[in-house]
Amino acid sequence: MSTHSADATLRGFSGHLLLVGAGKMGHALLEGWLGLGLDPQRILVFEPQPAPDLVALAARGLRLNPPHSEAHGAAAIVIAVKPQIAADVVPPLAPLVSNVSVAISIMAGKPLQALEQALPGAAVVRAMPNTPAAVGRGMTVALANQRVSPAQRDLAHALLSATGAVEWISEEALMDAVTAVSGSGPAYVFLLAEALAQAGIDAGLPPDLAAKLARETVAGSGELLHRSALDPATLRHNVTSPGGTTEAALAVLMGAEGLAPLMTKAVAAATRRSRALAR
Ligand SMILES: NC(=O)c1ccc[n+]([C@@H]2O[C@H](COP(=O)([O-])OP(=O)(O)OC[C@H]3O[C@@H](n4cnc5c(N)ncnc54)[C@H](OP(=O)(O)O)[C@@H]3O)[C@@H](O)[C@H]2O)c1
Repeated sequence: MSTHSADATLRGFSGHLLLVGAGKMGHALLEGWLGLGLDPQRILVFEPQPAPDLVALAARGLRLNPPHSEAHGAAAIVIAVKPQIAADVVPPLAPLVSNVSVAISIMAGKPLQALEQALPGAAVVRAMPNTPAAVGRGMTVALANQRVSPAQRDLAHALLSATGAVEWISEEALMDAVTAVSGSGPAYVFLLAEALAQAGIDAGLPPDLAAKLARETVAGSGELLHRSALDPATLRHNVTSPGGTTEAALAVLMGAEGLAPLMTKAVAAATRRSRALAR
């Protein structure tokens, strides 16, 4: 779905939205919805410690911590609290779910079945975003249960794509590997920036300069990858001249004990951990 149609879906659905938890992720979603032109008057938020800008939005019509009765029958209920408090927060939402509502959980590691148990009979979407959502460049992977109608899926897609790209999967077992690749992935990229900076210091650069070079190189390369139609391997080839400096470094990074086998091991470890946490 394009941004344009997400935009149109967000303007076109009827009813209101309920956001439960406006922390880092919930807030990023909320900003995305407002950025796409959603009227604050159509948004209800449950958040025990609202940030000042959320309080300011209440002055523009957003309903902050309204009585539960006002939140009944929301078109979508977006659950963005920490998974550790799900058992306290989610079951009390069950009476708010109507036959038009879709519940969208972004709680890491909470399977569809647990959500369905807490919200009996509900149309449920389980989604896994990542932190670049905070700058509208997130990657979210979503999975719907059988009760989700095509229109509800469109609405969920539009709401989630307010913070970046969205992909749908139909096999929940993939969610552990998704978590390991895109959920945890930003940390690997930040580590790359740290390691590159340290390598620059080891090669004789002043620390501030090394940090700046590493940061801008990782950020700029990410942006180039984002904007380019070329795949990462082609972009890599494009900066690698035969017999040059890049080739010398890549011979190390692409060796038998280089980055690819290490990344495979790291992602496998995260996938195993995700599976273990779900038990
Ligand atoms: N951050 C990530 O990279 C990432 C990636 C994928 C998925 N997720 C998932 O996204 C969810 C939110 O993460 P986050 O980083 O945004 O956490 P967060 O910043 O702690 O946000 C959670 C918010 O929920 C609020 N809250 C607590 N009890 C509540 C209640 N009873 N009703 C309504 N709101 C309540 C919290 O308020 P208090 O601060 O007062 O407790 C907080 O503002 C988590 O389930 C996480 O697994 C996060």
